[in-house]
Amino acid sequence: MHNCVQITEDLCYIGGSDRRIALFENVYPVPRGVSYNSYLLKDEKTVLFDTVDLSVGELFFENLAFALGERALDYVVVHHMEPDHAASLLRLTERYPNVTVLASMKASQMIANFFAGIDVAVRVVKEGETVQTGRHLLRFVSAPMVHWPEVLLTFDESTGTLFSADAFGTFGALGGSIYADEVHFERDFLDDARRYYFNIVGKYGAQVQSVLKKAAGLPISMICPLHGPVWRKDIAWYLKKYLTWSAYEPEEKGVAVFYGTIYGHTQNAAEILAGAIAAEGVTNVKVYDVSVTEVSELLSEAFRYSHVVFLSATYNNGIFVKMENFLSDLAAHNYQNRGFALVENGSWAPQAGALMQERLSSLKNMRQIGEKITILSSVKEEQAELLCALAKKIAADWKEE
Ligand code: FEO
Repeated sequence: MHNCVQITEDLCYIGGSDRRIALFENVYPVPRGVSYNSYLLKDEKTVLFDTVDLSVGELFFENLAFALGERALDYVVVHHMEPDHAASLLRLTERYPNVTVLASMKASQMIANFFAGIDVAVRVVKEGETVQTGRHLLRFVSAPMVHWPEVLLTFDESTGTLFSADAFGTFGALGGSIYADEVHFERDFLDDARRYYFNIVGKYGAQVQSVLKKAAGLPISMICPLHGPVWRKDIAWYLKKYLTWSAYEPEEKGVAVFYGTIYGHTQNAAEILAGAIAAEGVTNVKVYDVSVTEVSELLSEAFRYSHVVFLSATYNNGIFVKMENFLSDLAAHNYQNRGFALVENGSWAPQAGALMQERLSSLKNMRQIGEKITILSSVKEEQAELLCALAKKIAADWKEE
């Protein structure tokens, strides 16, 4: 049965949510599910903004048929060719053979690559080009690498609606209301929005900044992303989050302590250090076991805070495997611009500290606070004193920032 939401007289939400999915992109756990948004504009011409993932395809096609009624489908705008949005495109063209695809040049090539032999009219649109659909004037905005190179956004100049593709999206299924102003976004979605941003588009901060500059010149009254709630109010608050995140600035002053432990001695060091940092007056200290907390969350938390500490056991003459994976993920996402401190552990040849130092020093604008501390198997009085001295330096830096 169809389940559409009328957003304005002309615009309808026709997407759906998947709460059974375990891993988004077969990588990221999404215990709260995810939504695949699609929108239909009914003007003198009818315009569909993106299709959906196959998992919600049945509902989507019922919604589309209901929302169109007797009308034909004139256009489908393909903002992004990733299959979570474009997997239903072939089926759409089979059901609506007279539809014309509006897409970037790169997207038009991807359509042929994904769907060999697809028979559909494609009109390539460029940055700044417009299409008048009747009462609505749609302007296309190029947004390469947010999140793939073919990405396009659409700004409806008549209503101030920005169809923002993956930008401003979030993990988390929709339920009850599709609007950010009708849910408790900060409590229920912000952690997922941050984790979505840094893991999906975090690597492309410069490209996100360039889109935000374009957006700053637009009178935006509503944002319709491809995942998560629609924004009608407090848009400036969410834009500010994106400005902070894409500039690789910390969102919060705080210290995130990440430890990789095998039998608990490195954990012991982490907890002594975290306690000493808090005792110095730092009010925002978080501690994570990198073997327990899933890596997309670790990554999101590392980007969130101003200061980070990495403590790792030495393993196979290298960094403890879970910590090594986490550090590789940070580097792959352009992690930068933070104060960091290091602690290593080793029972006969401690190596993790030098290797972590090498990795972190290769990242942009990373400042090491204090010297790395070496623990031989377990924390003794002498190392506990060193940990407390390091905590003082971290706290002093935290207070200065
Ligand atoms: Fe939601 Fe990059 O696809």
